[in-house]
Amino acid sequence: ADSVKVALLGCGAVGSEVVRLLHEQADDLTARIGAPVELVGIAVRRAGRDRSDLPVKPDLFTTDALGLVKRDDVDVVIEVVGGIEPARTWLVEALRAGKSVITGNKALLAEDGGSLHDAAAEGGADLYYEASVAGAIPLLRPLRESLHGDRITQVTGIVNGTTNFILSAMDATGAGFSEALEEATALGYAEADPTADVEGFDAAAKAAILASLAFHTRVRAADVYREGITEVSAADVASAKAMGCTIKLLCIAGRTADGGVSVRVHPAMIPRTHPLAGVGEAFNAVFVEAEAAGQLMFYGRGAGGAPTASAVLGDLVAVGRNRLAGVRAASESAYADLAVHPMGEV
Ligand code: HSE
Repeated sequence: ADSVKVALLGCGAVGSEVVRLLHEQADDLTARIGAPVELVGIAVRRAGRDRSDLPVKPDLFTTDALGLVKRDDVDVVIEVVGGIEPARTWLVEALRAGKSVITGNKALLAEDGGSLHDAAAEGGADLYYEASVAGAIPLLRPLRESLHGDRITQVTGIVNGTTNFILSAMDATGAGFSEALEEATALGYAEADPTADVEGFDAAAKAAILASLAFHTRVRAADVYREGITEVSAADVASAKAMGCTIKLLCIAGRTADGGVSVRVHPAMIPRTHPLAGVGEAFNAVFVEAEAAGQLMFYGRGAGGAPTASAVLGDLVAVGRNRLAGVRAASESAYADLAVHPMGEV
């Protein structure tokens, strides 16, 4: 069969791993998709950086992402740049032109996933984004496919590794927030500017994506009640401990009695016997409750180049197969407009 031609936008920690895995696993990917995958271009921000560490020819690199997206020979666009613009412009362009899109861009999906889904419907293209929430953990496809015959009632997750590392350290050592943040920074878990993580913005974006899929509606990051962990003190952690609990930054999305949904992110005390209490270090876990399936837990590494690239390649196999079969994944444009109450019923 003809090859599946892929344009990669972004070649940082995740993009580089995608390039490596495409090369190392070329034979397996060909077997699973039914056609070879061909990387036809890689868009990067800056020209001239030495990328001889990667198994690709230097002439694949370009700084013209939009030009690459528009090329006639591109079937699939993988975006691992992040941020709202210009990523939205690139992806809407690709989808409208019928090109499948795989993205890990949680900020864009949580801000304006609707535009991407609409463009996908318009172009008859696939839109997959397993890498956008909880990295390597297969979570979005179980929500949007495997559990589609069921009715999900609540999703409760630890979806930010940095804050989970900090809270776990506070719990283990009695350290205060600042001290634990310093440790997280020294070990490379927290970024130089930790605001998005410690103030809960990253978790709120992921909560919006999870709630949208779980409840077949459109929830945006701005709809999510959000409180970070900067106010959690050593004394809070100690008193939680005295009560047989631990403190976790949870995202909680559930149905409300009036038929709407509530989505929130905040530190919460949970009993040490709860499955989420044992999720340590920078791990992620998402606890899903569904009417027929009962309780499920998804657990693993929520960040990092290789784990996130694993999610991207899984999506690539799915969209590659769909293209060869001449089909696209079920449309998610069939959204219901449910009322979103950040804290539950009002
Ligand atoms: N900063 C994020 C985290 C990275 O700590 O989980 C993955 O989205």
